[in-house]
Amino acid sequence: MPKLKIVVGTVYGGALDVAEQVSPLFEQAGYEVAIIEQPSASDMVDELSDLVLFCVSTTGSGDFPGDFVPFVRQLKAQSPSLVSLRYGLIALGDSSYGDTFCGSGRALDDILADLGAQRLGERLEIDAMETFMADDAAIPWIEAWIESQGLKV
Ligand SMILES: Cc1cc2nc3c(=O)[nH]c(=O)nc-3n(C[C@H](O)[C@H](O)[C@H](O)COP(=O)(O)O)c2cc1C
Repeated sequence: MPKLKIVVGTVYGGALDVAEQVSPLFEQAGYEVAIIEQPSASDMVDELSDLVLFCVSTTGSGDFPGDFVPFVRQLKAQSPSLVSLRYGLIALGDSSYGDTFCGSGRALDDILADLGAQRLGERLEIDAMETFMADDAAIPWIEAWIESQGLKV
């Protein structure tokens, strides 16, 4: 059975909740799912890491959640080649923060692209000003993503 990692960066648990809610959709699509809350760069380069979904919120002024910062530092310091990595990205944010809206998800997307990873489809940005429960936006988006990217096994 193919594996899918869902890598989470969260402060208050919303992004983890999204990961937990979408996980059964991937299981139904034929994947064994692992949710990773404190990722390291090595999680990206082991033999099981060809498909990863990132669920990350933004804190501070466009900053990564604290538990996610070591991962980003490792990626920048080690610059692993991620050419075989395909990924999806769900960014949680709040448009009332203006320019830093979803800053963490956007910055992660740039880092992954610089390392050669290939994003499948567009990034989903969930705005807390518009969507009270992030799952309400994430679940239909993931259903459509699995379909449109031909991810069913
Ligand atoms: C102190 C604080 C700072 C925040 N800064 C930003 C920000 O700069 N940009 C943004 O888009 N959202 C910002 N947010 C909103 C969160 O990203 C949003 O509420 C998100 O849904 C939280 O997800 P989480 O529960 O996974 O941490 C901030 C929230 C708090 C409480």
